[in-house]
Amino acid sequence: MKTIKKIGVFTSGGDSPGMNAAVRAVTRAALFRDLSVTGIRYGYQGMIEGDFVELSRTSVSNIIQRGGTILKSARSSEFMTPDGREKAARNLAKHGIDALIAIGGDGTFKGATILNDEYKFPIIGIPGTIDNDLSGTDETIGYDTALNTALDAIDKIRDTADAHERLFIVEVMGRDAGFIALETGIACGAELTLLPETLTRVQEVKENLTKILENKKRSTLVIVAEGDETGGAINLSQQLKQDFEEYDMRVCVLGHIQRGGNPTARDRVLASRLGVAAVNALFDGHVNVMVGVVNNNIKLTPLKSGWGKKKSIQYEILELTKVLK
Ligand code: F6P
Repeated sequence: MKTIKKIGVFTSGGDSPGMNAAVRAVTRAALFRDLSVTGIRYGYQGMIEGDFVELSRTSVSNIIQRGGTILKSARSSEFMTPDGREKAARNLAKHGIDALIAIGGDGTFKGATILNDEYKFPIIGIPGTIDNDLSGTDETIGYDTALNTALDAIDKIRDTADAHERLFIVEVMGRDAGFIALETGIACGAELTLLPETLTRVQEVKENLTKILENKKRSTLVIVAEGDETGGAINLSQQLKQDFEEYDMRVCVLGHIQRGGNPTARDRVLASRLGVAAVNALFDGHVNVMVGVVNNNIKLTPLKSGWGKKKSIQYEILELTKVLK
């Protein structure tokens, strides 16, 4: 393999809190090893358009605590075409980039795998998504922050739900994965939690709610993942409205506030560990792997299984939702 002298780093797909901390860690770890670093702005779209910026120690100063991503992010449909990828590969060669570090989720790693298949470009993936849905790491960067942001909002909803003795349906993010719903559900003491990973029948939801309300619960919170088959909070509330008219039901969709904000200490540490691990992996000759933390140890997983294999929710935690409601 060609000696690596210059690496490119980019963030792609949905941003997640801690991506900046990862960019900082990658940059500083690379410089520590005398490699130069180019930031690619707007993910794969910036690769196609040649939106490249040199990164130094100081260009990543004072970002470890900031949400969003200084490199910006995008979802590029052009990169999904052979023509788009050819332009991207040409730009990488023009800028003398020998290897890439991609920070993102399943879509990002899928793109990286295709780029590698076609152009033999060494790539290391860093898992950055609030969804926590990548195999090969216990947690993804941004998940802990999103969980705490959602929980903070839900605790506030509980106060008003309690004051008015209302039924609330709260929707959290997770198009295909229910990790945020499951763990916020446990942490806020939700009466019901609905996930894409489990079959939700509206009739069963109605029966469960009837039992809960008969027990004269002063407030009732249903947490639903956006990707649940009921279609999320608004759809579900339409289906429940008639049967639960007397409970003055309210709906709250938490949406993109879950993606922003300062990363928690855990996310900053995770991002720092993974950023350094990604550079170390390249240096040690690994290619096309995702770095992760499993049981508190750095682990490398083939990039393909990071996005190709659906990560399972923990069924032991799911059981808690039934016992503790
Ligand atoms: O992948 C993270 C995520 O936040 C999903 O949970 C959500 O469905 C999606 O991104 C929303 O994406 P966008 O910001 O493009 O609407």
